[in-house]
Amino acid sequence: MSQDSNLVSAESINLAVSSALSEIDKANDLDELKLIKLNHAGDRSPIALANREIGSLQGEAKSEAGKRIGQARSVVKEALDNRMVELQNNREDSILVAEKVDVTQVLANAKSSSLVVGARHPLTTIAEHIADVFIAMGYEIAEGPEAEAEWFNFDSLNISEDHPSRSSSDTFYVESLDSGVVMRTQTSPVQMRAMLERKPPIYVIAPGKVFRTDELDATHTPVFHQVEGLAVDKNLTMADLKGTLDHLAKTMFGEEIETRFRPSYFPFTEPSAELDLKCFVCKGVNKKEDFDCKTCRNEGWIEWGGCGMVNPNVLETAGIDSTRYSGFAFGMGLERTLMFRYGITDMHDLVEADIRFTSNFGLGI
Ligand code: DAH
Repeated sequence: MSQDSNLVSAESINLAVSSALSEIDKANDLDELKLIKLNHAGDRSPIALANREIGSLQGEAKSEAGKRIGQARSVVKEALDNRMVELQNNREDSILVAEKVDVTQVLANAKSSSLVVGARHPLTTIAEHIADVFIAMGYEIAEGPEAEAEWFNFDSLNISEDHPSRSSSDTFYVESLDSGVVMRTQTSPVQMRAMLERKPPIYVIAPGKVFRTDELDATHTPVFHQVEGLAVDKNLTMADLKGTLDHLAKTMFGEEIETRFRPSYFPFTEPSAELDLKCFVCKGVNKKEDFDCKTCRNEGWIEWGGCGMVNPNVLETAGIDSTRYSGFAFGMGLERTLMFRYGITDMHDLVEADIRFTSNFGLGI
């Protein structure tokens, strides 16, 4: 018998099978099993080498060897397959254990050590708080998309095609300049959506994210938040607007706060105004020799937001009869509101939302 024909002997094959089976059994993980598969079922494994010898055998010896080797291969293959399933299951089990999240753990640790629990962002809290103030007066929350049709964001609000704010140096256009879609630059488009969805009387409040192509610095951020308000009813006047905003100002800054309207211009309101707050740092006292007020830059007043009586063109665009109904609207920046309220001087703090910053505001505002 030649050296090679020894490879196909029952003894050799049995030995190859038993050593394969014992190693397969001992494999600790899928990587080890892969190596074992290579050694015992790969091209250079004893069984594969034996298989190659079959061709040189004759007659009965050939068919017996063929049978033996065929059986050996299927025994080894089955053992490999079974072990692979076992090891895969083990791995999944151990991942479940290793990646287990104990939702009570952080809280338990926080009580006993300095580990921190998550904190709400003050913007979320203030937006909800303002919404609550208006819900208490009978307003509904209205919503619109952040990627908004140019028509809703500009045209429907009486903002002409050549208005500078429409240029791509101020507005983020989605995909291309003629896509007709912008990232909304204000929450005012929600006014038009609310008017198209409802019939007067309409009282809605709409907090939300807005986008402008500003660089992030101490007072600007390309993504910020506004709260929009809109009322459409019979006989609404500027006095209703002033009373409503005074109420909001008091809930935000305390009973003592004083407000004033300053004439302004917005295409979607007529007349338009800016709502100013009396500076609560210098109490509206313009620059004195010994005090330079950084909060109001010695103006005595701080600009809080825009407002006005809804332009009749806008009411008509929404299909509302401007001879029967009038409306008022307003829009305030939420970051600005928080900055005034808490003396926050750098917008980065609001954008970064480091938990060491946000956790100071608690759950209520
Ligand atoms: N949308 C304006 C802005 O972003 C703010 C504003 C002004 C909203 C007047 C209004 C309004 O509803 O009536 O600057």
